[in-house]
Amino acid sequence: MNTATQNLENDHVYILQLTDVMEQMAKKRASDVNHLKSVVHIIRNYADGLHHKKEEDLLFPLFEQRSANEGCGPVGVMLMEHKQGREYVQGMVDYIAAYEKGDEEALELVFENMLNYAALLKNHIFKENNILFRMADDAFSEADQKMLLDQFEKIEKDANPGDKAEDFIKAIKELSSNYSSSI
Ligand SMILES: [Fe+2]
Repeated sequence: MNTATQNLENDHVYILQLTDVMEQMAKKRASDVNHLKSVVHIIRNYADGLHHKKEEDLLFPLFEQRSANEGCGPVGVMLMEHKQGREYVQGMVDYIAAYEKGDEEALELVFENMLNYAALLKNHIFKENNILFRMADDAFSEADQKMLLDQFEKIEKDANPGDKAEDFIKAIKELSSNYSSSI
């Protein structure tokens, strides 16, 4: 059976590919501003867009209802980490803008925020895959999983052309081919 938690774990595969690319870009001191902006675009619209919308608007609230530890369970920690991630992305945006205006040293701070984001997300996804989603699988009925999955698929279907999951996956693969560690 396809489940809502599997749908999110599938997104995680691509988000982890993006964090690998970010680490490679930082290591290789990538100065192509279009590539740096592309990373921000993918995070804001895919990882923190489509994917976090499914978690924050749908899975987390239902999990809290079903598991009766509202406010003090793992969901609170996950939400805090999403917020921390947004701060690192804002740091990337600000320092990319400074770099574009001629502040050469700002590039190092872009990489610092990228590395912080990548480390945070890797740890965060590990916790979701291994702890939270397994707790959710126990807490949800088959009907819950199906209802969530239908809602996830509607969000994916309703995304505008160019902002669909497959567009972001393609963009991650393109970036990955530019910065793959084997090159
Ligand atoms: Fe997630």
